[in-house]
Amino acid sequence: MHPQNPAPCSSGTPKTDFALRNIDSETITGAVLSACEPGTDPRLRQIMERGLFHLHGFIREVKPTHAEWRKLIELLTRAGEITDHERNEFVLFSDVLGVSSLVDMINSHPDATAASVLGPFHIRDAPPLKFGGDLIRDNAGDQVVVSGQVRDPQGNPVKGAALDIWQTADNGLYSNQDPKQAAYNLRARMQLGDDGRYLFSTVKPAPYTVPDDGPVGDLLKATGRRPWRPSHLHIIVEAEGYRPIVTELFPSDDPYLDKDAVFGVRNSLVIEYKPRTDKSAVPAALEAKEKLKTPFYTVDYDFVLARETKK
Ligand code: BEZ
Ligand code: FE
Repeated sequence: MHPQNPAPCSSGTPKTDFALRNIDSETITGAVLSACEPGTDPRLRQIMERGLFHLHGFIREVKPTHAEWRKLIELLTRAGEITDHERNEFVLFSDVLGVSSLVDMINSHPDATAASVLGPFHIRDAPPLKFGGDLIRDNAGDQVVVSGQVRDPQGNPVKGAALDIWQTADNGLYSNQDPKQAAYNLRARMQLGDDGRYLFSTVKPAPYTVPDDGPVGDLLKATGRRPWRPSHLHIIVEAEGYRPIVTELFPSDDPYLDKDAVFGVRNSLVIEYKPRTDKSAVPAALEAKEKLKTPFYTVDYDFVLARETKK
């Protein structure tokens, strides 16, 4: 710490100890820190201290001009203007800068299924789908039978788990982006039984681009980045007493697996869509068994939930 730096507020130093009028480009960081009340919540204080340390350090290192700083403020202002209850440009910034994925990674339980970005297209209250239910309905595209189990890290089934599933149609659009799709198309909530097993039919999702008509798109273009995401099934897995998981499953043949604009792909979330011409192994419980067109695909994936730890 600079000798003239006031001690940060965690030391409880009264803010009046520091002659604010004497600050310079080195001591200003401590001055801002010491401006916060000694009684500030300790976690907030830690976030402020470390955040300011890095933010001021970044400014001292990069030395932005006023024009450059104004440009950043304008970018954030436009993000605010374009943000509403359906589109959040700040979340998109967090996604394309890898921050959402980094937060996922540091909060992931090592024994549980890896987490991956929620994205902006999830809708609460999707309609219920029973075990073996059908999401294909009148959707075009490759037909897929998806099955698996929700279990704990020891391999035991998790009782009473629920899945929340959403995905794009064959045209790469979610139902809430495409007026031609029915409300809640390719979305469902499935309540599982004591064996933790799930089964449903759907169509293969398609790759798509993240919204790039706003400031995030401008940043991607200015840095020569592409807005593509590999195709994926979004799934939230939850059960009482367990840590919920927000994740995605990616087909192993997707051309954008290593080019995801939001860095959501993990090796453990890449799955094989196995082509099938024989329906005889399809469980009788699958509602759409008779109407499945061959070849269809099967996907099998087990989710692992870790126990909620008491705080
Ligand atoms: C998505 O997967 O739905 C998504 C994630 C991040 C940004 C945009 C879309
Ligand atoms: Fe998505």
